Amino acid sequence: MKTIALLLMLNTYATTCKPARTDFITLRNQGITARFIRYGARLVSLDVPDKQGKPVNIVWGFDSEAAYRACKTDPYYGAIIGRYGNRIAKAAFTLNGHTYQLDKNDHGNSLHGGLSGLHTKEWQASFKTDTSVTFTCESPDGEGGYPGKLLISVTYTLTNSKGLRIDYKAITDKTTVLNLTNHAYWNLNGPGSGSILRHTLMIRTDKYTPVDSLLIPTGEIKALAGTPLDFHYGRKIGVRIDDHHAQLHYGKGYDHNFVFRPHSLQTKLAQVTGDRSGITMSVYSDQPGLQFYSGNFMAGKNTMNGGAKDNFRSGFCLETQHYPDSPNQPGFPSTVLRPGETYRSTTIYQFSAEK
Ligand code: BGC
Repeated sequence: MKTIALLLMLNTYATTCKPARTDFITLRNQGITARFIRYGARLVSLDVPDKQGKPVNIVWGFDSEAAYRACKTDPYYGAIIGRYGNRIAKAAFTLNGHTYQLDKNDHGNSLHGGLSGLHTKEWQASFKTDTSVTFTCESPDGEGGYPGKLLISVTYTLTNSKGLRIDYKAITDKTTVLNLTNHAYWNLNGPGSGSILRHTLMIRTDKYTPVDSLLIPTGEIKALAGTPLDFHYGRKIGVRIDDHHAQLHYGKGYDHNFVFRPHSLQTKLAQVTGDRSGITMSVYSDQPGLQFYSGNFMAGKNTMNGGAKDNFRSGFCLETQHYPDSPNQPGFPSTVLRPGETYRSTTIYQFSAEK
């Protein structure tokens, strides 16, 4: 009974249908086509018109669902990430006097929800129209070490104004922590077209959370001005990526959380343009952080989109989120979710192309 009541609270569960187990779920709107799979509720491809009006896929992905499952070196391609996006130090946190031990999957820390993270889940495609799909899944109490049974829904929508909107919702039956995001790797010239270093990036903030050598935040919120991490006024990603700077050394490039407080879904957090395609992606979100990761651990190990190798820095991520390690950082915004509350967050990736 309790489960049914919880499901109904997530209103997207109300209309449930069971599509056949086909490989890809396709949405179309305004000349944009998006494809998804249930495994990890992943975005597999996104075709967007370039400056000539020709559709270009701008997301790294495999050509079949089976390839995602078979991939031994999957860096979360296109997946929904949880229960906690990014790192939790020493894979542990304390809540209401109890210390929870999580999976250690990153140098003694916990990354992206651990071994049984949401990227490994078999999600249900619970509701689908031509332009939107809702994926739902349940994470049992204690999974990955996290307290509380969690019910999660993620709705992807292709909007009428050429955007990909992602709405996240979740409820829990015990007090827990939660930080959901999507881990698409973008290349706005198209995967297989080379590195992303000539893309122009603007991140509209003047602060970030510096990290230590294991990419755990130090707890400080620091100014970007004067550092090679400052993208406030827009410049090519590659211009300063190899500067001698401790933060770039730790990340092997950019792998940092940018700070946005206060702001709303109407505020543009970031904008990127592909130098060849002319495609611009703008990022809007109600989340307080944005992880910019420049594909520094991509190493050409996977054969993906039509035979392209996922080479070093050939994709980038802009993950909207709460700050890494927030459960251990009292100075960061809270990621606690309690029974009776509904976790909600929204991100919109908006597309256009200049002639
Ligand atoms: C992290 C990187 C990590 C990558 C793939 C990103 O979100 O910030 O440090 O290598 O995910 O796991």
